[in-house]
Amino acid sequence: MSKRLIVTGGAGYIGSHVCVTLLEAGNEVLVIDNLDNSSAQAIERIEQITGKTAPLLRADLSDPSCKGQILDAVKAFKPTGAIHLAGLKAVGDSVAQPMRYYRNNIEATWTLLEALEQADAKRLVFSSSATVYGDLNQNPVQEDGATGPTNPYGRTKLFIEEMLKDLAHSDSDWRICNLRYFNPVGAHASGKIGEDPTGVPNNLFPFIAQVAVGRRPKVNVYGNDYPTPDGTGVRDYIHVDDLAKGHMAAIHYLDENVPNDGANNTVDINLGCGKGVSVLQAIEAFRNAANREIAFEIASRRPGDVAEIVANAGKAAALLNWKTEKTLEDMCQDHWRWQQQNPNGYDTDS
Ligand code: NAD
Ligand code: WQD
Repeated sequence: MSKRLIVTGGAGYIGSHVCVTLLEAGNEVLVIDNLDNSSAQAIERIEQITGKTAPLLRADLSDPSCKGQILDAVKAFKPTGAIHLAGLKAVGDSVAQPMRYYRNNIEATWTLLEALEQADAKRLVFSSSATVYGDLNQNPVQEDGATGPTNPYGRTKLFIEEMLKDLAHSDSDWRICNLRYFNPVGAHASGKIGEDPTGVPNNLFPFIAQVAVGRRPKVNVYGNDYPTPDGTGVRDYIHVDDLAKGHMAAIHYLDENVPNDGANNTVDINLGCGKGVSVLQAIEAFRNAANREIAFEIASRRPGDVAEIVANAGKAAALLNWKTEKTLEDMCQDHWRWQQQNPNGYDTDS
């Protein structure tokens, strides 16, 4: 049955792919996004890919002066639930401006919850992160592993998860799924939507892609003395299309099940491949996909990095009947296609 879903942050990197997946499956969406870290062009591209409309309410979920407008729009849309991706996500910025992060991420969630309550649509999929685990667990990491984020951004995710558990415990009409993403990369196969970081990319894949396209001279590999097979950091990269499909699976799961994995009416689920890839392996895979050399240099470790973090993706397979389908090669090819077609992101004339 088709659903009517609010997608907060739907103009962003992951949200735009989630919108495409939802629309292609016959659902309707209302995007709420303030375009703080995204472009209205992403909405146009979603519409080009799907041939469907993706209405955008441009509003700041954390701004009290937007609240009335948001509550009215959500009520009028008559949603069946929501996928909540809106949030600030730069780890370094969160250390420099913690209160901005706490305010934005927590207040935005608060407003959405109020709107869903008023619209009587108490189904929520929340964009959490593997960052909630910190460096406390054996790999592959399971959902019942210890949590201990190491920066304010990660703490906003953990605090929101806890807030959602308290809410669902207090009112059994709520059904909530916290999706803990590992490292999303890649882009839609059309090359029309993808990640468009502002300024110098913090993350490995956008950095490699900008080196490949000639915008930056070389990749700095942050450390080659970790206790990993080649000494560089190991992560569980997941194609953003697989990730988007995981959201659809979570929405279906909530419609058909009352989640309860220790906290009433909520469930935490890792979305990852379960496979570790080192920095040097990622550079090599991208080099093959782009068919050009990627210059790199070994630099010192980046403060706060862990040696390795990989998902145990068994719970997603068991509960959501979901697993990743795309390979590292797909991730690199699709990321490269997006970068080549849009060398300056959404600002590129195309
Ligand atoms: P993104 O920045 O591309 O998308 C987030 C979107 O939310 C942006 O379009 C931004 O404009 C919007 N937004 C932020 N604050 C808002 C507010 N107050 N009101 C309305 N809109 C607001 O980031 P993304 O990579 O697509 O990430 C989406 C979500 O997934 C985020 O919550 C992020 O923390 C989480 N996440 C991302 C990653 C990753 O590596 N990309 C990993 C784990 C979790
Ligand atoms: C991956 C590997 C780096 C850049 C971050 C956030 C996390 C989550 C996902 C939202 C590491 C190395 C990187 C570079 C490098 N986001 N690297 N040179 O750190 O696993 O996770 O994004 O929730 O919260 O912390 O991802 O892509 O930054 O780094 O060598 O220029 O690449 O040291 O080993 P990370 P990343």
